[in-house]
Amino acid sequence: MLQSRLQKRLKALDLHDYKSYCDLVLTKKDKSEVEKLIVSVSTNKTSFFREPQHFDYLLSNILPNAHQQGKKQNFFKLWCAGCSSGEEPYSLSMVMHQFTKTHPGFTFHIDASDISIEVLRKAGKGIYSHDSLEDIPPIFRKAYLLKSKDKTNKKIRMSKALRDSIQFLWINLMNDSFGFDDKHDVIFCRNTLIYFDRTTQERVINNLFRQLKTGGYLILGHSESLINMSISAKHCSPSVYQKI
Ligand SMILES: C[S@@+](CC[C@H](N)C(=O)[O-])C[C@H]1O[C@@H](n2cnc3c(N)ncnc32)[C@H](O)[C@@H]1O
Repeated sequence: MLQSRLQKRLKALDLHDYKSYCDLVLTKKDKSEVEKLIVSVSTNKTSFFREPQHFDYLLSNILPNAHQQGKKQNFFKLWCAGCSSGEEPYSLSMVMHQFTKTHPGFTFHIDASDISIEVLRKAGKGIYSHDSLEDIPPIFRKAYLLKSKDKTNKKIRMSKALRDSIQFLWINLMNDSFGFDDKHDVIFCRNTLIYFDRTTQERVINNLFRQLKTGGYLILGHSESLINMSISAKHCSPSVYQKI
């Protein structure tokens, strides 16, 4: 997979072997090539409301509990780590807006990050084609999707309210410090760690837990888990863990 993906870069640069490519990237002669390398090798598959049980769990368990905990919990901070082209944080923002409508005074902010600048650019624009919207519940489609005034333009844009609630950031999850000032109530890090080896997964997950408030939640993808890792967390629901 790595070979076939990098082959395109070799071709574009008229290089004949991987060693020359490695030399180019590692000596950082061409800094923009590092960005292109990341774009070429990362897998960015995502969709709106992917693995929807997690959004249900957030709405029916995590948020009501946080709200009940009292006045101190009125500002809720989420981080979507490995957010790809933005479908996941925009889905989260729709759910959060829905909750705030029925719980006045409850406010939130979403940090959304990825290692690939290219997907972050797309995410920041918040413009998507119609066929990617199928899994968005109709009530959210009506409330948060903007159609173009130009009838020939078939794309839609996420509403300003959604865009304003998310800050897109360039963060490499392999770093030991993520550069946030405050901790988060919930971290979604789904379908991203599967690409890391076991030792790295455990290191990244420990760092993610450090970034969580006590009682906060880490939500992984359905094929990811903390099984056989020495991490003390409460398993609340499939791939949902609470920091204790
Ligand atoms: C398969 S997508 C998952 C997107 C979304 N979380 C979802 O479940 O639909 C994985 C994302 O992780 C990002 N990624 C891979 N390695 C990363 C790293 N070291 N740091 C930050 N993001 C990374 C990729 O660029 C990609 O956008």
